[in-house]
Amino acid sequence: MNPTDKKSDIPARVEQEHAHLRRALEELRASASSVAEGEDFAQWRLELMWQVRDFKNDLLKHFDLEEEGGFMRDVRRQVPNSDPQVNDLLEEHREMELAMDRVLATLKAMRERDDQELTRLQQEIDEFISTALEHETTEQHLLQRSYYRDYGGPE
Ligand SMILES: [Fe+2]
Ligand SMILES: [Fe+2]
Repeated sequence: MNPTDKKSDIPARVEQEHAHLRRALEELRASASSVAEGEDFAQWRLELMWQVRDFKNDLLKHFDLEEEGGFMRDVRRQVPNSDPQVNDLLEEHREMELAMDRVLATLKAMRERDDQELTRLQQEIDEFISTALEHETTEQHLLQRSYYRDYGGPE
């Protein structure tokens, strides 16, 4: 595909943010899996809390871009029968926001290192990451079909 053939900068922005989010998800996974011991635990917990908060804010802004910036409107218009898929994506946005709130609540409640709670937290973060990656992959496919469908490709 030739980037000069794009009808607008919406797909470029969405793709750019997807690349940024994929990196941020890997950073989140790395931080959550390298738990500090002893006296360093409090600092680790605080830093992870801030990382999750910053990530959540970026994620919500990304959802705003997709929901209000024209991406979902264009997909509904340009990809036949995409309404149910777009509705599912919107639903997942709300679910991912709630999942981040749960992670924050778990961290906030963990005043001391608790290995059982940590395992649960890491599972929750892993599940969130899988959901988010799948979600973004679905959007990438819709993006290809919506904006680049005249230029060939697997779909
Ligand atoms: Fe999305
Ligand atoms: Fe997205």
